[in-house]
Amino acid sequence: MCGIVGYIGNTKAYPILINGLQKLEYRGYDSAGVSTIENEKIACIKNKGRVKELDNMEGTHFLEGTVGIAHTRWATHGKPSSINSHPHLDSSETFSAVHNGIIENYNELREFLTNAGYKFLSETDTEVIPNLIHYYYTKETGNNEDRFVHAVSRATKDFKGSYAIAVLCKLEPDKIVVARKDNPLVLGAKDNEMYIASDIPAILEYTNNIYILNDGDLAELKAGSVKFYDKDFNSIEKTPEIITWDAKAADKNGYDDFMLKEINEQPTAIRETIGTRLVKGGKCNFDDINITKDFLLGINRIYIVACGTAMHAGIAAKPLFERLAGIPVEVDIASEFRYREPLIDEKTLIICISQSGETADTLAALKNSKAMGCKTIAISNVIGSSITREADFTVYTHAGPEIAVASTKAYTSQVTVLALLAIHFAEVLGSRETALIETLKDEILELPSKASIVLENTDMLKEFAKRIYKEKDVFYIGRGSDYAAAVESSLKLKEISYVHSDAYQSGELKHGSIALIENDITVIGIMTDRRLVEKSVSNLQEVITRGAKTLIVTNQDLDTKLFPNILRIPEINTLLSPVIAVIPLQLLAYFVSKEKGLDPDKPRNLAKSVTVE
Ligand code: AGP
Repeated sequence: MCGIVGYIGNTKAYPILINGLQKLEYRGYDSAGVSTIENEKIACIKNKGRVKELDNMEGTHFLEGTVGIAHTRWATHGKPSSINSHPHLDSSETFSAVHNGIIENYNELREFLTNAGYKFLSETDTEVIPNLIHYYYTKETGNNEDRFVHAVSRATKDFKGSYAIAVLCKLEPDKIVVARKDNPLVLGAKDNEMYIASDIPAILEYTNNIYILNDGDLAELKAGSVKFYDKDFNSIEKTPEIITWDAKAADKNGYDDFMLKEINEQPTAIRETIGTRLVKGGKCNFDDINITKDFLLGINRIYIVACGTAMHAGIAAKPLFERLAGIPVEVDIASEFRYREPLIDEKTLIICISQSGETADTLAALKNSKAMGCKTIAISNVIGSSITREADFTVYTHAGPEIAVASTKAYTSQVTVLALLAIHFAEVLGSRETALIETLKDEILELPSKASIVLENTDMLKEFAKRIYKEKDVFYIGRGSDYAAAVESSLKLKEISYVHSDAYQSGELKHGSIALIENDITVIGIMTDRRLVEKSVSNLQEVITRGAKTLIVTNQDLDTKLFPNILRIPEINTLLSPVIAVIPLQLLAYFVSKEKGLDPDKPRNLAKSVTVE
């Protein structure tokens, strides 16, 4: 997805901009560009391709300006090309703008501006932005001091859709103006320097003093100072947040790929997510969200709403909430939920899960539900992200920055925090499942060490990856909570190795899909529920009889003659098993991707944060 970086200070902007763009490469993009103010003129260099290619373009290294903006684009309107890349200039080359999001009414604005004499070069929606700002700058000005920021404010009132923008003006070369709505944008402050980024890791090596913009906010940046305005152009005050991620956490730290680093960070991510929410012998602590018994007694249904991996964390959490808190749970895909007119009233609780906190479908589902009168909880990994500002309550995972497109540590942290939340609900409600609750709490505290044990056992997975990397289809099966791990493991394989795979509840396979099982096809079975082990073994026998080879992830004692490839994981209550069972299968997907010579961090067609519908 698109990325924005900006800098204003007293040193050359260009190297900082390129460095920031490189930090955002993980978001996925097809073009890159940069604009700086050079001797009161706007320089703009851009093209389709990688940031490295931009850096090799003629002219970039002559950029001396200390004020600049930069962008990586992921095409939505118009193919990847030099003309369609950002930054975009207005017809008079007075303004330069970078933009994340979509201006939905751009056709209408383009027509209006064309009639007013403006010329358009690109096929993008973004090009209306600098032109409309120019229009208001010349036609409807505020007082001289804030003419630039006022013109941007006025233009944003005409935009329908979403935007995070950063704008330069050659007539006011000591300023950058930024604005955002439904798209992330943060500012970093350090002495006489200000930084702009769509994502914190882009600027974290320079400062951890971060201002978070709310929807509709604008800011006018100068070297060492910043003024904030709300959507109605009222002056507002903001205090920076101190981000505790260090810049190193956003680097590969010696691993070949971010994904492998993040898989290996899971013991820490789970431990940090548990944090002080649970200590041995204590109750789960969610004092920060103040969920009362009366509130929970008034809830008769929970919807867990999310996309992709985050939605899979919801599948893993459903039995925890139902069993422990006794509240029925439906898990919904956000892109469906937002349009399917779900039954929502004040007795409904919505839990939205989003690693980035910026996923457009999840955010829209949350906003729609809130408007229908229910209470909402956001689970997110990013402080101050959009869903956290919309929800009534926020619970953070503390997985640290997740750079690889394929989500790993965010998933296991999400399931962990949801398990803690389900126990908290049960404890607040005075559940009678006290023995189970105490067992689960002890086991949650053991999750980090169990995750570490699983991470030590990689040789067999590497070997198995060598056997299956050329295959076209792989099946994952599991019952109950094991199905949650199966469906997430299957997604991991698909997204980074491009091997088609599907996940099934083991007992469902025989109702149709077993027709696909043929000689030497791979079926991966997950078995952690002692009560269901015999049933699962029977289901696996059904596929073995039809020629399938199997890999079994289990903590049960199984017949090694029947199952020659067993990956043993530590003993764990099946309700928590998705946290542990998924880890070897994340690794398997990673090894298959490497065997195929692919880049697991940047899978084709995918973006880290999907901020468009
Ligand atoms: C995970 O590997 C995927 N890349 C994707 O499914 C992701 O989980 C989904 O887009 C939701 O993202 P979010 O958690 O940031 O909302």
